Amino acid sequence: MDFSNKLNALASRAESALDALVPALPPDAHAGPARIHAAMRYSLQAGGKRLRPVLALAAAELAGGEAGLEAALPAAAALECVHTYSLIHDDLPCMDDDDLRRGRPTCHRAFDEATALLAGDALLDQAFLILAGRYADRPALGLRLVRELADAASGARLVGGQMQDLLAEGAAPAGRPPATAAELEFIHLNKTAAMLEASLVCGGLAGGLADEAVETLRRAGRHLGLAFQIVDDVLDATADTAALGKTAGKDARAGKTTYVSLHGLDAARRLAAEQTDRAAAALRSLPGDPAFLLFLAERMLLRKN
Ligand code: IPE
Ligand code: IPE
Ligand code: MG
Ligand code: MG
Ligand code: MG
Repeated sequence: MDFSNKLNALASRAESALDALVPALPPDAHAGPARIHAAMRYSLQAGGKRLRPVLALAAAELAGGEAGLEAALPAAAALECVHTYSLIHDDLPCMDDDDLRRGRPTCHRAFDEATALLAGDALLDQAFLILAGRYADRPALGLRLVRELADAASGARLVGGQMQDLLAEGAAPAGRPPATAAELEFIHLNKTAAMLEASLVCGGLAGGLADEAVETLRRAGRHLGLAFQIVDDVLDATADTAALGKTAGKDARAGKTTYVSLHGLDAARRLAAEQTDRAAAALRSLPGDPAFLLFLAERMLLRKN
């Protein structure tokens, strides 16, 4: 199987796991109102690249072959639940105020703001329900996965990065100074890289990787995550809405400090490539054959959406 096919195959395995592990529609009588599940599934099933679960599954396979990959499927689904929650909340009027996500109206446009808020909350909860339930027979692993995912999503990391992103917003229109390079790196390392680190780490843990190699994955994820958000900034400034499936040009309009606004397009592209090289160097030092993870790193750099 070539790597593009493998990427599609892993994404579809992650989607099947999500479908199985998130309440079905219509939910059973104990699952609460159908509307909340409809909103959760609306955003989950809108597509998306499924990069976080794919990274987790690839790391797990590197560590433990097909058995490792199978063991990581619930963790992969949990990662996508947290990611999708973060997108739903990121799009809310009080945050980035976006109308389009994954090629469809955002959750609060398709439903309403309160439902979108609650769907995000419930997806975050669902992630930990999946981990606690599906790793109950391996409690030590389950606890480590819970800790990794909770830390990545925490006020110190994803939420902290989102907070700092908002604090730095409006610089240009409001005449506030833009974020410094160090503040911007903090934003990207936390709002985005934290979840990519957690994806590789959770996959490695579920696949049975030794601690030293797990820390190498964490380092690779940090560089990959920084590159990923720099590319997101570049695409926001250069791609069109149809290709992105989300509104292009939003960052400049909102006065966000980004790698493009602070360093310029060429330097941003160069920095993304440098971070990808650093991720690749870490991946090459892992035990096992990292060829597919290297392919993913390259794909994430060269992506068009
Ligand atoms: C979007 O993430 C938010 C960022 C962290 C830049 P993705 O670009 O992975 O979004 P989906 O999951 O493919 O929709
Ligand atoms: C979002 O960064 C990061 C998270 C969702 C945590 P952006 O606000 O740049 O993401 P997009 O461009 O809306 O996907
Ligand atoms: Mg945002
Ligand atoms: Mg946004
Ligand atoms: Mg963006």
